[in-house]
This record gives sequence, structure tokens and C-alpha cells, in this order.
Amino acid sequence: MTALFNPLKAGQMALDHRIVLAPMSRYRCTKQMAPDTLTADYYSQRASKGGLVITEATHINPEGTPVWNIYEAIREGGGEAPGIWTDDQTDAFRAVVDAIHAKGAYASCQLQHCGRVAQDDIKDHPLVKGSRLPIGPVSSSAVPIAVTDEEGNQYNWDQPSAPPRALDVSEIARVYEDYAHAARNAIKAGYDFVEIHAGHGYLVNQFLCDSVNKRTDEYGGSIANRCRFLFELVAKLVDTVGLDRIAVRLSPTFKEHIRYFGVSDSNPEALYSTAIEGLNDFPLAYLLLTEPRASGLSAPAENDPAHSEPLSSVRFRKIYKGTLIAAGGFTPQTAARAIEEGHYDLIAFGRWFLSNPDLPERIRQGSPLNVYDRDKFYTNGADGYTDYPNEGGTIGVAGKYPVMEQHKIGKTLSHS
Ligand SMILES: Cc1cc2nc3c(=O)[nH]c(=O)nc-3n(C[C@H](O)[C@H](O)[C@H](O)COP(=O)(O)O)c2cc1C
Repeated sequence: MTALFNPLKAGQMALDHRIVLAPMSRYRCTKQMAPDTLTADYYSQRASKGGLVITEATHINPEGTPVWNIYEAIREGGGEAPGIWTDDQTDAFRAVVDAIHAKGAYASCQLQHCGRVAQDDIKDHPLVKGSRLPIGPVSSSAVPIAVTDEEGNQYNWDQPSAPPRALDVSEIARVYEDYAHAARNAIKAGYDFVEIHAGHGYLVNQFLCDSVNKRTDEYGGSIANRCRFLFELVAKLVDTVGLDRIAVRLSPTFKEHIRYFGVSDSNPEALYSTAIEGLNDFPLAYLLLTEPRASGLSAPAENDPAHSEPLSSVRFRKIYKGTLIAAGGFTPQTAARAIEEGHYDLIAFGRWFLSNPDLPERIRQGSPLNVYDRDKFYTNGADGYTDYPNEGGTIGVAGKYPVMEQHKIGKTLSHS
């Protein structure tokens, strides 16, 4: 495991270990779409000296904000994702960032515009109702999400999605301004970095990929044109908040992988090689790549197939010159191996970090890990959020969750 504990100096970051908290939406925010003290506790628990904490996807404007009650757990639990377009939201984030900094960690705010995944029912949200703020759904082109794609994959989507409107060129400039406003707010709240969520089927991904982008202007057609939105957005945010402060998340998927909200490309190798090569022109804080090892919602933690699928995004290591992070299906052992073999600089953990507030320390000690409870990913309150215990017994509820030896994770399936 020593590879995970080699320090790393990169840009503004001086990291003591290579274990990053992956951005994870937890839908515990207030009705004002703002974090509160519970959110601050959750991130503080997972922050450690010289670590990097990427906070959950945060909406830049109502136009890009879905009413997330498309998910049953959220419908029943009633939680919200955060936004960062109002002053109140920005102020509320300050307490979260302060709590992360107090532990000696860096904080990165993931900014999200969901494009066609957003729906116009957000107009009735108390925070938006009566305002003149733009409302979605919008996308690169007027191509709706198919509830079931041609391979028969079902999405976690149990209501029809309205067809999006294609953004015209003047509106694209306005969307960049909305991103810039949100990025300024994130920096005002104290964040060290601002991450553009350019993956997982959301707006930027809808510009990149030709299953959605059917435009005939300078934002569509050739790969260079489809990358234009990403590059212009990165340039705008670098101008807005400065060098080494902007990060990007991409989720390259190939034929054999899942499609996020129905988004795919006919030539992903060429598309993502061009996008990643182009990002070398910017002094990014980091590039986060999603390893497309998703296992659906029902796989048990001990033999989740995601833990054993081969790495896919490592092919881009030879292209990208900056700090490269991967997330997706890593166990402590496979994470250490990926760093040792030089595939990635840092590994972001999602589910195992969610259930182990002291994950870096547990990995260092080789201690058993609390097993995550999927049913509580998106519910409300402290249950399944801040009550996972640390080893010292100072956090959470001791004994509440089953534990698993690190070396057993993923071991019931063969490793490639
Ligand atoms: C509950 C949950 C919420 C997530 N929310 C986000 C999100 O807001 N933004 C994002 O980029 N990825 C999100 N992800 C994906 C994670 O960042 C990560 O890529 C994924 O969990 C795979 O890593 P893991 O195998 O270590 O869990 C989420 C994952 C989970 C489990």
C-alpha cells in the first residue's frame, strides 16, 4: 500500500497521500439547495491532512438542475442537491470548506449543468418560482433521453423526459457566464479548486458526443467542433478564477460500457484523445477520469463486478501531461497497484470512502472497512451519512455497519 502514501506535489497541491474523496451527490441539502451543518460534518469526517476532497455535483443555475425526485429514495426522503448560484448558497458552502480546511485538506467544488437531464418542473421549486432565471431542459441538440436505449438498458428514470431545446450560440455564451458566476462563488466560499463535470451524460458530455450533438454550426459535426464547448468553458473559467484552479472530469466510455443517460459516441477513442490532448493546453489542477466500471445498484460490496473489470481509461495516460486521477471500482489493493504501475497519480474512492470516514488511515493500517449501505446513499439525515464509524470510535455509531477485510474485497471474482 506504500504507493498510496507517497506524497505528491502538483500545481497548488502538496498532498500527503493519494486517496481522494470522489464527488458524490448525497441529496441531504436544504430546501434552499444549500448545504448545512450535517453536510459540513460529513465532509469534515472525510478530510485528512494533505488529502483532496471533491464535494458533490453542485448546480450552476436552475436551467441545469433536475428535480432529482426521479429517484425513488429522493422522492421518499425529500432531499436536495446543492446549487451555488445564490449568495445564501455560497455563504452556506463557506462552512463546508472551512471544515475541510480545518483538517488540512484541499477542497474542490464540482460544478454541474445537467443539460437534457434537467426538466422544467424545477420552475415550481420555491427557490426558482417567479424568478426570471432560465429553465431547462436544454442540450447541444433537441435529442431527448430514451427511457430505454436500443440495447435495452433501463435508466434509473421512471418518468418520461421532455425533449430538450438546442442552445443557440448566444445562449452558449450565457451558459459560460453562469458557470463563471458559480466558479466565482465557489472561490468566494473558499474552495481551492473548481471542477467542471464534463462526464456522466450531462451538458458538456452532450456537446462532446455525437449520439446527442447533431449541430451543424461550429459546435457540432467534427470532433474539433464538438470539443469546442469544453475548451471554451475551461478557458473562460481559467480566465475567471486563475491558473491551476480549474479541474475537469471526463468519463470516456466504449462500446462495451454503460452509457450515462443514453450518451455515447461513434468514435470514443478519437473523441476523448482529442479532448484530453486539448486539455494539455490549460494549466489544470487535475483531470479526473471515470473508469467505466459500473455495477448497477444491486451488486453486493464483497463481489461487486466493478472491482474486477479491467481498467479502460489508462490508455489516456500517455496523452495527458498533468495530474491524473481515476475513480471507479478501485479496491485499496487495485488502487495501490494502479499508482505503482504509473497509470494514475491519484485514486478517488466513492463508495468505500462514503462508508469509511477515515479511509486513508484504514488503508494505511490494513484495517477492515465498513461496508456501504446502498439503500442509504440518497436518503435523508445522518443515517447512512455521518453515522459510519471511524476506528477510533470518535465518529459515527460503532458496530452499526458490517465490516469486511480489505483483502477480501473483490476476491470472490477473478481479477484481470
Ligand atoms: C452515491 C453516489 C453519488 C455519486 N454522485 C456523483 C456526483 O455527484 N458527481 C460525480 O461526478 N460522480 C458521482 N458519483 C460517481 C463517483 O464519483 C465514482 O465515480 C463512483 O462511485 C465509482 O467509484 P467507486 O467504485 O469508488 O464507488 C456518485 C457515486 C455514488 C456511489
